[in-house]
Amino acid sequence: MLGEIGIIFATTKLIRESTMELKEDTTIVVLGASGDLAKKKTFPALFGLYRNKFLPKDIHIIGYARTKMDHEEYLRRVKQYIKTPTKDVEEQLEDFCKCCSYISGQYDQDEPFQNLNKHIEEFEQGRKAGNRIFYMALPPSVFIPVSQHLRKNCYPNNGIARVIIEKPFGKDLQSSRELQRALEPDWKEEEIFRIDHYLGKEMVKNLLILRFGNEFLGATWNRNHIDSVQITFKEPFGTEGRGGYFDEFGIIRDVMQNHLLQVLTLLAMERPISFSSEDIRDEKVRVLRGIPAIEPKNVIIGQYGKSLDGTKPAYKEDDTVPKDSRCPTFCAMVAYIRNERWDGVPFILKAGKALNEQKTEIRIQFKDVTSGIFKDIPRNELVIRIQPNESVYLKMNSKLPGLSMQTVVTELDLTYRRRFSDLKIPEAYESLVLDALKGDHSNFVRDDELDASWRIFTPILHYLDEKKEIVPMEYPYGSRGPAVLDDFTASFGYKFSDAAGYQWNTASNKAAL
Ligand code: BG6
Repeated sequence: MLGEIGIIFATTKLIRESTMELKEDTTIVVLGASGDLAKKKTFPALFGLYRNKFLPKDIHIIGYARTKMDHEEYLRRVKQYIKTPTKDVEEQLEDFCKCCSYISGQYDQDEPFQNLNKHIEEFEQGRKAGNRIFYMALPPSVFIPVSQHLRKNCYPNNGIARVIIEKPFGKDLQSSRELQRALEPDWKEEEIFRIDHYLGKEMVKNLLILRFGNEFLGATWNRNHIDSVQITFKEPFGTEGRGGYFDEFGIIRDVMQNHLLQVLTLLAMERPISFSSEDIRDEKVRVLRGIPAIEPKNVIIGQYGKSLDGTKPAYKEDDTVPKDSRCPTFCAMVAYIRNERWDGVPFILKAGKALNEQKTEIRIQFKDVTSGIFKDIPRNELVIRIQPNESVYLKMNSKLPGLSMQTVVTELDLTYRRRFSDLKIPEAYESLVLDALKGDHSNFVRDDELDASWRIFTPILHYLDEKKEIVPMEYPYGSRGPAVLDDFTASFGYKFSDAAGYQWNTASNKAAL
């Protein structure tokens, strides 16, 4: 009996700690501090929070990496990607740098981690507690040894520990489980914050509000009214400089199994009982479990070749990419959800590098209006633009003003830059680091969620890896993707209404942006 009470007390303490906001007595350690991710994302986000006074008071930020460098060189790297448009910001950056220090060491030995521990302890002198956040901006190869050494040598004796980790979380279901098993003995799920930075994006965070805070959307959000859902990720540049990493992963692992699936999940999940992190994540897992593995017949893959004018290189021209690489840099695939709400509705995911534009958006196409009084009237579409230029617009039919009864496609348009012109949209990483400080797990990936997502993708990934005869279709750098793309989406019922001359981003709209 006593034992049971002990367990209850321990669990309650853990829940309290895991949701406790860290407002003071905190050190953040960035592991992999000399790498690209830390320089481009982590430090700018930390500085953004610092400037806006969201970091705990007396914060100290320690960079740790293998590269030997002195303090000056470290600060030069920290500042490299931080913009300082005004004198004020420049001064704030100088102040921020006073909270930063660096220590170099290997990732697989006790001694350097013991040094790191001593270094952290120096800043904890005189504090009531010593809370520690370990931000692992590390390549997958050193991920396990670092997490083990941190637990063994740097775990706080008198404070809360949190560890923020970055993808890739494995390459398939098996490797993801292995990684999870390696973490389990050392870190409790409550202490782990797995980042999918799409969950920190403003419009992605808006999805639950749009869906559940608007009765008219909630009422039509199902198979009776929605014909298809498309989630599109396009980048106008290739893998320049990252070919070595990318070739091992490909576009499906790089952005579809994580970022696009997260968006799908938020679009399709049922209403959570509350906005608490576990209620939200329970619903996410439930909908993921209703998605059968992607079938090969519902997938097309592509790889970019040279641009039509010959100025941009083909994927295989990257020196770090094998000349016979079959790695997909483009993919379109269809997922179905076997539940009452979504049965039969195709969720079309499209992602590609080296395409004609930069855009991530959701396109929800409603069913045809019943025929009778109208002939060929276009379908309604709700478009949610995640980036760039966050916006939500609903394409709808209206009477063309004038004496005739002609119809025209127009839109209800919520373009953020116009509607919220005086508000700043935070960077995804700022929002997520702040959530980790607050102990809010809502926008982080839970272990069972990760498992459920790999289960959907692993069979198709293995199929594509193993079937050597499947070669991605080549598309020119800077194009819309493989030529068959439009036929592919049309075969799942998508009607391309822009063909009727409609364009959302008209000249006047663009001028306002
Ligand atoms: C990363 C991928 O997770 O997301 C990159 O590894 C991709 O390949 C990036 O470019 C896209 O993120 P964002 O925020 O620029 O859309």
